[in-house]
Amino acid sequence: MAGAQRIGILTSGGDAPGMNPAIRAAVRAATSANIACIGIRRGYAGLINGDVFELTGSDVDGISRRGGTILYTARSQEFRTEEGLKKAAQVCKYLGIDGLICIGGDGTFRGALELSRLGVRVVGIPATIDNDMGCTEYTIGFDTACNTAIEAIDKLRDTGQSHDRVSVVEVMGRNAGHLALYVGVAAGASAVLLPERETDLEHDVIDVIRRGNIHGRRHHIVVIAEGVGYVNSYARQIEESTGLETRVTVLGYIQRGGAPNGRDRVSAAMMGVRAVDVLRSDANSRVIVARNGRFEDMDIEEALTMERTLDQEMYDACFRINTSYPKIRH
Ligand code: F6P
Repeated sequence: MAGAQRIGILTSGGDAPGMNPAIRAAVRAATSANIACIGIRRGYAGLINGDVFELTGSDVDGISRRGGTILYTARSQEFRTEEGLKKAAQVCKYLGIDGLICIGGDGTFRGALELSRLGVRVVGIPATIDNDMGCTEYTIGFDTACNTAIEAIDKLRDTGQSHDRVSVVEVMGRNAGHLALYVGVAAGASAVLLPERETDLEHDVIDVIRRGNIHGRRHHIVVIAEGVGYVNSYARQIEESTGLETRVTVLGYIQRGGAPNGRDRVSAAMMGVRAVDVLRSDANSRVIVARNGRFEDMDIEEALTMERTLDQEMYDACFRINTSYPKIRH
């Protein structure tokens, strides 16, 4: 099979800071090899509707520092149907797209795999703030989202400290706790609750806060991953059991915005170029992954079978730091 001559690029699912530099790198690497690029708006929904435009090297000037995605993104219901999928594959054929770069998370990769089964040559680039993909050590957007959350929690600590309050903060991550754990450790949270670990509120949170209290620590940060839920109920129980006032903050979509930081720009650049290299070769149905700090490509089907596990060492470290106050003798 000859290398691609006309590459389509789309972003799909939740946006992540760093999608733009990935688009830029792919477009620049392609155009420098005389490969034409087609921008597809709003992910698979746009592909089905033929919402496309020619993307030139100058279209991507200066986009690396911009958050969001210049290609827009969407979660398409139609694409999940057999008919929608077939339509998307037909549009690729009609437009002469002989290679498709799909930037996004798990759902995006699953869509790309389905398209590849209908004869479209695909390559996936992992981008999600959740960092929850088993195939790769890193997904574009994670580091920027962490820093956004850490900055916000530092501010919550200022006001929490002034009022002797417990700040209960919900951090994004869908069903995964990687973002919450990382942010919790970095922000010095007294406790971090994750969907991957059973919550023992009394032991993991209330006891830790009581112990801190006895030693004069009257303000605390409790990070709860969104996959755990019950933030308000936990906050109420903490207040009742510790006597400290609590306030709940749901960080929400602020974590998805903002200019990508250095790590995300560089990862995006490396992955974007690699994706084009894959499409220039004979390879098909691949995804770009980070492994041992390097960027590689692997089979998309295999990638989707891999599960991401929580960093147990980080989890243990977090707990040991937080339980350093001596136990209360009753
Ligand atoms: O996958 C990224 C993410 O921000 C998750 O952390 C969150 O659960 C989800 O997307 C929210 O999705 P939506 O934009 O569809 O509300």
